[in-house]
Amino acid sequence: MKTFDVIALGELNVDLILNRIAGFPEVGKEIFARDMICTLGSSTAIFAANVSALGARTAFAGMIGRDAFGELVRGSLEARGVDTRYVIEAADRATGVTVVMSYGEDRANVTYPGAMEALRFADLDPEIFLSARHIHLSSLFMQPGLLADIVPILRAAHDGGATVSLDTQWDPAEEWRIDCREVLPLIDIFMPNEAELTALAHAASLDEAIGSVRPWLRRAMIVKRGSRGSVLVTAGGECREVGALLNREAVDTIGAGDSFNAGFIRCFVRGGSLGECQDAGNLTGAISTTAAGGTGAFADREAAVRTARERFGKQLNLD
Ligand SMILES: Nc1ncnc2c1ncn2[C@@H]1O[C@H](COP(=O)(O)OP(=O)(O)O)[C@@H](O)[C@H]1O
Ligand SMILES: [Mg+2]
Repeated sequence: MKTFDVIALGELNVDLILNRIAGFPEVGKEIFARDMICTLGSSTAIFAANVSALGARTAFAGMIGRDAFGELVRGSLEARGVDTRYVIEAADRATGVTVVMSYGEDRANVTYPGAMEALRFADLDPEIFLSARHIHLSSLFMQPGLLADIVPILRAAHDGGATVSLDTQWDPAEEWRIDCREVLPLIDIFMPNEAELTALAHAASLDEAIGSVRPWLRRAMIVKRGSRGSVLVTAGGECREVGALLNREAVDTIGAGDSFNAGFIRCFVRGGSLGECQDAGNLTGAISTTAAGGTGAFADREAAVRTARERFGKQLNLD
């Protein structure tokens, strides 16, 4: 009996969001923002908070600094029921932060990666690989330490008896330094979005990208396609396309992909078929678009169930 259904391994940071800013910042001058939110950021943290809200016993493995932002990160994860025993506090690094300057629909972001960049395989408690039924990794290109150690990490997970999923997220350097031949055969569920997969495969179209990575799949790949839904590709070559449960009045799509991952992996660790997992992901991705930010729609479990039923005519299973 393993202690956790899911351990999320990835980046942690704080989002400091400035709204209602009087113009654009200029060097040597000062302006006011009339609204400010300081909250848990990072795609892997959104995944962890939501998979926990969906009923999975969840822990987080990542790195923060020994500072106030680190306390905010830890407290926010714990408030969502995520165990933080594997969150490491680096003595010599600050917690990462993204300053988000919002101008209507557009945002100008500045990120200080901080402690998350330093995390290496050697820092991870080996118990992680024994105590999880499933390990989810995300945002690999923002974490050079994890990227360098990806193969030993995946091998340790499998040796410990865990299944693994990976959502690479976008590569800010656009170098896409993952050797698919070596890495994909170690990933049970590969979870990129369409743009990421196409860039990673150096392909001109989605079909070409699917064709080029398919031989390296261990079990399945789920490609997220925004308002067009998703396509499931199995190692055997079957494709299953499902349209989105389209929300024409989306509040925002922040964290839709991470919420999709949470619904998919919640179903996967419960033993659902890959098709059922895809349908669950499509539903939780859609639910995410009904509230602000990545975790807002899952804060209240009853409200999430009601949203699924009333807005999308679906049953959200939280058992
Ligand atoms: N407007 C929308 N209405 C309903 N579902 C959506 C909408 N936008 C995204 N989704 C769901 O969220 C999933 C992930 O979104 P996507 O933007 O592809 O991921 P990412 O955030 O990783 O780029 C989609 O596959 C879809 O199921
Ligand atoms: Mg994504």
